[in-house]
Amino acid sequence: MSEKKTVIQTLQAVRGMNDILPDDAEAWEHFEDIVRDWLRSYGYRPIRMPIVEPTPLFKRAIGEVTDIVEKEMYSFEDALNGELLTLRPEGTASCVRAAIQHKMLATGAQRLYYHGPMFRHERPQKGRYRQFHQIGVEALGFDGPDIDAEHILMCARLWDDLGLEDVRLELNSLGSSEERARHRAELIAFLSEHEDRLDEDSKRRLHTNPLRILDTKNLDMHEIVEAAPRLIDFLGEESLRHFDGVQSLLKDAGIPYRINPRLVRGLDYYNRTVFEWVTTRLGAQGTVCAGGRYDGLVEQLGGKPAPAAGFAMGVERLLALWRDGGGEIERALPDVYVVHLGEQAQRLAFRAAEALRGYGFAVLTHCGGGSFKSQMKKADASGAQLAVVIGDDEAAAGEVGLKPLRGPGGQQRVALEVLGDVVAECLFTEEEEENDGSV
Ligand code: HAM
Repeated sequence: MSEKKTVIQTLQAVRGMNDILPDDAEAWEHFEDIVRDWLRSYGYRPIRMPIVEPTPLFKRAIGEVTDIVEKEMYSFEDALNGELLTLRPEGTASCVRAAIQHKMLATGAQRLYYHGPMFRHERPQKGRYRQFHQIGVEALGFDGPDIDAEHILMCARLWDDLGLEDVRLELNSLGSSEERARHRAELIAFLSEHEDRLDEDSKRRLHTNPLRILDTKNLDMHEIVEAAPRLIDFLGEESLRHFDGVQSLLKDAGIPYRINPRLVRGLDYYNRTVFEWVTTRLGAQGTVCAGGRYDGLVEQLGGKPAPAAGFAMGVERLLALWRDGGGEIERALPDVYVVHLGEQAQRLAFRAAEALRGYGFAVLTHCGGGSFKSQMKKADASGAQLAVVIGDDEAAAGEVGLKPLRGPGGQQRVALEVLGDVVAECLFTEEEEENDGSV
């Protein structure tokens, strides 16, 4: 009788949610190191919020009639108590919720940042994922144009630090809610006159969120959108002064920008300054960073009224752009690979490896047995500069063999007590020789 084989189906990650494998994850860590230093240099402090929040938080903050809330949130009912929960689609709402909950503004204005995964049920494509990562910056309790400008300047410096080119700044002002209300009335009147030329989505939004119609990607509607009343023409004196303030600081800093009156953003909490950094190098998903002012949100979420502004960048998009410009990191290799044969030798190998790590070296201890020959092959393939070799003889003497894997020179016997010093000497001599060679 032939035996029936059971085929076990492999499982895949959820569509639009990606594994970040070691080669990429190392680049991410390198990027995160740069970003952390950059944020510190502007005085921003870290905050970490939960990934799951009560659904009403996002409905209230982002707005009921937005793509995110209408169709992109991963929401579910807590099986135990029926509470409606959502995987965070962005970080601003959570950050503001946390600041209110912990009365952070009682001690003064706050410069905060966070990073981590966000979730949106969008149609996945290059640069657009269902789980993606943001680095977000929020400044709570600041009302002047200075902080808006600081945010933009910060971004410009980061692009510089990362060597990114081809990132342009688009800027707009959404004014105050009163100014938007007046503009909205005229916009609805204008668009209603041309309702036959609106697509279904826009018809639906005409009376709920007409501003978003201006942001349409539908080319057939561009003519009508171009002719529509512009919000910028409805700005009052204070909003204009604020906007001028931002622009003069940008000009001082030599940061070029383009005013895009159609830039309205997809989240409802914004007022006054909004901006996006865009590139043409990434195809359709070219916005690498976006944000603006949201002076009403703290109050809207139940806090004492406080002005605020912030932005967030998409890590996947920024890294793609960095790679596109030739960015790469050197893989960190171990300094030493420890090979050993026999029980005594294994014990000594563990001691030797720990001693070397105590010195600050990166050490790979061979695991899984095998002959000296096969272990040496692995040592070579690891990229380490040196091998520590321990057999019965060495183990009996409490010594180890030290063998250069890259440069010239044979194996020498070294007592465990001085191993760290000898390894240091070998590695630094090699480094010096390399440096001399390159001059
Ligand atoms: P947002 O424009 O929705 O703003 O997202 C900010 C950035 O996150 C985008 O510019 C993009 O780089 C990245 N991003 C968004 N969705 C995706 C996706 N599906 N796949 C890959 N990357 C994506 C916000 O989230 C606001 N909270 C920004 C902010 C902070 N405003 C004030 N403070």
